[in-house]
Amino acid sequence: MVIDHGREAEVSAPSRLGEEFVQDPHTIARMLREEGPVRPVHSRSGLPAWIVTGYAEAKALLSDPRLHKDASTRPELFANLRAASGAQASPSTLLLSEHLLNSDPPDHTRLRRLVTKAFTAGTVARLRPRIEQIADELLDDLAGRDEADLLEAYAFPLPVTVICELLGVPAEDREKFRAWSASLITASGPQEAGTASKELAEYLTALLDRKRATPGEDLLSDLVHVSDEGDQLSEAELVSMAFLLLVAGHETTVSLIANGVLALLRAPDQLDALRADPSLLPGAVEEFLRFDGPINIATLRFTSEPVGVGDVEIPENALVFVSLLAANRDEKRFPEPERLDLTRQTGGHLAFGHGIHYCVGAPLARLEGEIAIGRLLDRFPGLALAEATDRLRWRDSTLVHALESLRVRLV
Ligand code: HEM
Repeated sequence: MVIDHGREAEVSAPSRLGEEFVQDPHTIARMLREEGPVRPVHSRSGLPAWIVTGYAEAKALLSDPRLHKDASTRPELFANLRAASGAQASPSTLLLSEHLLNSDPPDHTRLRRLVTKAFTAGTVARLRPRIEQIADELLDDLAGRDEADLLEAYAFPLPVTVICELLGVPAEDREKFRAWSASLITASGPQEAGTASKELAEYLTALLDRKRATPGEDLLSDLVHVSDEGDQLSEAELVSMAFLLLVAGHETTVSLIANGVLALLRAPDQLDALRADPSLLPGAVEEFLRFDGPINIATLRFTSEPVGVGDVEIPENALVFVSLLAANRDEKRFPEPERLDLTRQTGGHLAFGHGIHYCVGAPLARLEGEIAIGRLLDRFPGLALAEATDRLRWRDSTLVHALESLRVRLV
């Protein structure tokens, strides 16, 4: 028997989600899936978990009521998680943690009801003219330049401006919370994350007090009103909701725009097709989300009892990582998954999650993505990558799949 050690080493997937999973998630996810759509793995910090890379399995688990999110029901499990990451359970982290993505029904149902109306397709459609204006102003600032970091100059400021205006966060404060939110997602250490969450919690508490004193025509003022009206929203839930909407509302959409533009610039035939027929744009946005979406692993879930999926049984009290990036490239669900195809049937992609935690902001994100990419292509017919794609760096996170920068030529 000939044993090809080189090949064996090449095909064996890593047992720990490390740097290569951050920089090249699709390759690692494919290797993991080849060894089984659901399998044990270790987190970046070394904690045992289960990773889900198959589409059918991901979809089933995301809507399985035996998977939970509320850490207060499993204090030991989450103490281990904190210990592994070195983080402390400070009062400010707790003040920011009582939000939708950390809650199960019935709390989740009550909290979610308070915000869904603000993000329906109908409500969001009314924002179109303002989003177009913001995009155009940012593009005006780019005109005349040969090259730019598209992330810094366009993909980032657009969604930040939109979510801040919607929530009523003063323009002069945006840079501050941008830094806090970045520290929380890709903190270089627990201390940095601790400082960021303390400052952000203090900032949001003060902002909400100002909204209470002088309400405006914005979502945070509405939420303060709801919390003062009765027992629908506690103070910690109010601060946490503001936190989640701010962070979820901008960290992700930035990457829909940047990853989408990158995918297009790497597939010139698709770029030409889109330029020739702009009516492809809404479908193109869905394909960008499927092909290289902003979220790699969905937020943390754990089992409350053994859960069978396919021929695997995940034990009780296990952490479950559902890789949305991996599921969206499962060839059992999407033929030729590595190919960007703007006309493909993308229905059912998991970039916005699935089940009760399905993204509240999806209609807003879709609208922003469509406007941002459409306006950019209109304005710059010569748009091209300004650096080799093997030099691209991704932010150090297994949650978000976000570029550090994207240098483009504009002329
Ligand atoms: C939840 C993705 C934009 C607000 C989620 C989830 C995903 C996701 C995957 C579910 C996470 C899980 O189940 O663990 C995205 C992507 C976006 C985007 C890819 C952009 C392209 C937005 C925007 C907002 C938003 C613009 C607006 C404020 C939320 C909220 C939740 C959520 C509040 C929690 C929903 C719940 O737990 O019930 N998002 N999101 N997202 N997203 Fe988004």
